[in-house]
Amino acid sequence: MFLMEINKLFIIFFFFFLINNVSITWSYTVFSPIDNYLVNCGSSVNSVINNRNFIGDPSATIATKLGSTFVDEEENPNPSLNLLPLHHTARIFTKPLIYLFEIKKKGTHLVRLHFFPFNSQNFNLSSALFHVSINGYVLLSDFNGLEGENNRKNPILKEYFIWVEDSKLEIEFTPSEESNLGFVNAIEVFSAPDDLIADTAKFVNSDGNKTIGGITNQALETVYRLTVGGPKVTPFNDTLWRTWSPDDEFLQSSETSQTVHFGGRIKYQNGGLSREVAPDNVYSSARVLSNTNESTLNDNITWILPVSVGYKYLVRMHFCDIASKVLYDLYFNVYINGNLAYENLDLSELTRMLASPYYADFVVDADNSGEITVSIAPSSSSSPERISAILNGLEVMKMNNTMGSLDGKISVGSIVKTPRGSTGVLVALVACTSLLVAVVAIMYRKRAMEHDSVAWSPLPTDASKGNQPESRKFLFF
Ligand SMILES: *[C@@H]1O[C@H](CO)[C@@H](O)[C@H](O)[C@H]1NC(C)=O
Ligand SMILES: *[C@@H]1O[C@H](CO)[C@@H](O)[C@H](O)[C@H]1NC(C)=O
Ligand SMILES: *[C@@H]1O[C@H](CO)[C@@H](O)[C@H](O)[C@H]1NC(C)=O
Ligand SMILES: *[C@@H]1O[C@H](CO)[C@@H](O)[C@H](O)[C@H]1NC(C)=O
Repeated sequence: MFLMEINKLFIIFFFFFLINNVSITWSYTVFSPIDNYLVNCGSSVNSVINNRNFIGDPSATIATKLGSTFVDEEENPNPSLNLLPLHHTARIFTKPLIYLFEIKKKGTHLVRLHFFPFNSQNFNLSSALFHVSINGYVLLSDFNGLEGENNRKNPILKEYFIWVEDSKLEIEFTPSEESNLGFVNAIEVFSAPDDLIADTAKFVNSDGNKTIGGITNQALETVYRLTVGGPKVTPFNDTLWRTWSPDDEFLQSSETSQTVHFGGRIKYQNGGLSREVAPDNVYSSARVLSNTNESTLNDNITWILPVSVGYKYLVRMHFCDIASKVLYDLYFNVYINGNLAYENLDLSELTRMLASPYYADFVVDADNSGEITVSIAPSSSSSPERISAILNGLEVMKMNNTMGSLDGKISVGSIVKTPRGSTGVLVALVACTSLLVAVVAIMYRKRAMEHDSVAWSPLPTDASKGNQPESRKFLFF
């Protein structure tokens, strides 16, 4: 019984050696994560995007059981200009599939999952429906690889922040019972800079505000990442390969709001926040309230962001005073969901320099209306004929609910059928050095060939395009 359950598992185990050999020609120190796994799923070739090398997953150690369907090199028949090479292939699964990553650095890790349900020759990816979980958290349930009404023209990128305590990060994909089909096009797992996610934030609600801790231990999902008043910032120009979208579609009209752009250097200070928190391009544009007389001191700038109810959200506001002529000229209030979140924000006092970045983190419950509203408005210290409020960037991250889920009232236990016992085996393997893993793998492979030569076949040494997927099976248990 127990063994039968294990047999349903397919495990892909990564231990890359060459993955950190990425050279980037930037004028400043480039962030280089200690853990850095970039996987081009379902492809036997590597794909370099913005100087990052996505490794084809057949180069990982693969363990599968016969009866599975792995489709390597499944090509998208209608690639468009909009697509990265990553979206041309997918790993398609009809049984649970695990990607297991060895983690060297304890702490927050960024996890990005790329999905694009193209029309494959052998599978109708439009009928896929699956769950994704990671280290005990539900990331996606009954997911079809699309975003809302997305008409399958645009690939989907899901991004998460996951705290990793042990030496492994395990992403489990489980096809739903109705569809028995799922897919993934690419996976990124890398350690986050230490200062990216702060552990405390100000919880804002109508009963008043209080500082809360334990933020880093939550699973977070990026819902919005906006650059305010400026053009889209692409992964090419971001220190962590993020995309910052323009804020226009969330902005409420305001009489005295203006955009400002700054051509000078953004001053990241020692001991202050780093370029990895947000890049220069985000801080060098902003929206400001510029008052011309006393009456416009009642104005504000408001953004309205639709969110799912039933979750708390981490709201990060990025500020950088690129608009004032002198220090101590700008004071303003911040409101979230109509509640005063920060009174008399004084960037000069906080950074002691103009054009120096600062951020503030707030936690809020989603309104019953399903929106988060963020406003900046003049404070009692603001004066007319000066800038009286500024915002440069805005990020909103969903926090896991009490069931440990980011996608509905569902727990990992109810979607993942993996027997607890097999997890122990995985942990034991992760603890091994890669050499040991290879030895163990060869041992098992030998045994498999002796005992079960029909059901199992070894990994070909020279895996090339067009091989039968069946020839890629590799015994794990
Ligand atoms: C693929 O699946 C979708 C959704 O189940 C269905 O509407 C569509 O007709 C299918 N396409 C083909 C070619 O079978
Ligand atoms: C990167 O940023 C520079 C300066 O803002 C801009 O001119 C350039 O177009 C950006 N490149 C990409 C690929 O977004
Ligand atoms: C912002 O201005 C609008 C329109 O004047 C007003 O309805 C709203 O209450 C203001 N919000 C804040 C937080 O001051
Ligand atoms: C997130 O999940 C953890 C572990 O399941 C739980 O302790 C925590 O309370 C959850 N967070 C929220 C905001 O409910």
